[in-house]
Amino acid sequence: MPQFDRRVLCIGGGHVGGPTMAVIAARCPQYEVTVVDVNAERIQAWKTDSLPVYEPGLLEVVKQARGRNLFFSTDIPAAIDKAEVIFVSVNTPTKTFGEGAGKAPDLQYWEKTARTIVEASRGNKIVVEKSTLPVRTAHAMERILNSNGKGIHFEVLSNPEFLSEGTAIRDLQNPDRVLVGSHETPGGIAARDVLVEIYAKWVPRERIITSNVWSAELSKLASNAFLAQRISSINSISALCEKTTADVAEVSRAIGMDTRIGNRFLEASVGFGGSCFKKDILNLVYLCESYGLDEVARYWESVVFINEYQKRRFVQTMIRAMFDTVAGKRIALLGFAFKKDTADTRESPALMVARKLIEERAVVVVTDPRALANARADLADVPAGSVLFEEDPYLAVRGAHALAVLTEWDLYRSLDYRAMFDSMEKPAFIFDGRNILDHQALYAIGFNVFPVGKPARKHF
Ligand code: NAD
Ligand code: UGA
Repeated sequence: MPQFDRRVLCIGGGHVGGPTMAVIAARCPQYEVTVVDVNAERIQAWKTDSLPVYEPGLLEVVKQARGRNLFFSTDIPAAIDKAEVIFVSVNTPTKTFGEGAGKAPDLQYWEKTARTIVEASRGNKIVVEKSTLPVRTAHAMERILNSNGKGIHFEVLSNPEFLSEGTAIRDLQNPDRVLVGSHETPGGIAARDVLVEIYAKWVPRERIITSNVWSAELSKLASNAFLAQRISSINSISALCEKTTADVAEVSRAIGMDTRIGNRFLEASVGFGGSCFKKDILNLVYLCESYGLDEVARYWESVVFINEYQKRRFVQTMIRAMFDTVAGKRIALLGFAFKKDTADTRESPALMVARKLIEERAVVVVTDPRALANARADLADVPAGSVLFEEDPYLAVRGAHALAVLTEWDLYRSLDYRAMFDSMEKPAFIFDGRNILDHQALYAIGFNVFPVGKPARKHF
């Protein structure tokens, strides 16, 4: 049996737990890193080359450490018992029932995990919040953990994750910052030092920042809210651009060159998606409401409101452009993932666009290089014949009246749009929900082109 300096565990082997632990294991061969999950199928997939999460570079990192110091298991109690540091990275979706439904986070998986930790532990442990949680969740966690009656002490840290899907490995290997929140007690500081020591194996010290637990929890929610707010801000301007023939790309370049503003996250689109932005903002909104901060709640809620408006507006533009009816028309959706380089379709704007078009009785053809399996599951309930799934984008557009780009996959930039045009019904329409195509060239081919936040180019 190899001797390891420390035993690290992660409960929850999803989009965050799996990649994060793979990078820790790869960078810290002296630590034993185990990932456990209640989902046995997921754990089994982590042991193969068909990983349960698609991320560029992930398989290479997993292979570097798997079987050496990176292990996957469903025996949660045994793994808890032997671990010194336990990351908890279970899902925290928006509550769909009872008090706070539609806004508050559903903490049932979180609390179950806390109780499992208490039951299975026979010694002191450091428990690290990796999931995104409401401020002061650590307090509840400490209450549950430390009322164990076994004389065991649990130190709870907050170490929110800032990775983005599609670039998770790059983000984990070279993070802008790592944040560790702890109590300012001797126990809290000692636990914090253990976690800092892990990250310091590859992250420069000046990028590892520490704070109190509540600031760390709030920083994660605020960080996602600020990022989403930038997208809603530029999307709100895109609506005005379309009315005034200003060009949102030109406006965003001009804004972004102000170093106080910066140029990232200013790309107008069909709307933001992903499992976290909406959920985390609503979590923040609920938190503000529960502290009586209604004005603050309304401010952040408007970020989600504009995003819903942007998605709706995109579909309305499609319907209006196509002579106010899409009934019976074949419409190809290029991309279903919420962004490129992921198979994840959670809260993808494509989902709303597809459903609205189906409501209007269009025949929707979905194509995506990675996300077709998820798309099939997401649209399993729609009437038979109203949606088709097609791997080949050329076949997807054949006979279609329109195509809409909903995910910015690189491959969509270099398709043969002339060949596509020839195979489509006329007049043929392109709705570029990501502004990634050469609109002038498409217009010259014969398409009627509708970008986001830029003047439409029409032949009539
Ligand atoms: P996920 O759904 O992909 O993975 C969560 C995993 O936890 C699932 O595999 C589930 O089976 C497992 N799980 C649930 N309850 C469990 C239990 N009691 N015991 C063991 N396993 C359990 O979710 P995710 O995308 O990895 O997100 C996890 C957390 O990280 C969320 O709070 C999310 O907000 C946050 N986060 C996500 C991202 C992202 O890009 N996806 C980035 C930063 C933070
Ligand atoms: C986001 C944050 O960027 C991460 O820091 C955070 O850790 C994560 O949420 C989380 O907590 O889950 P992610 O949702 O994976 O990461 O992806 P992003 O790159 O942020 O994109 C989110 C959505 O915004 C996508 O639909 C994307 O297409 C859209 N977007 C992004 C725009 O429409 N315009 C932009 O300029 C940027």
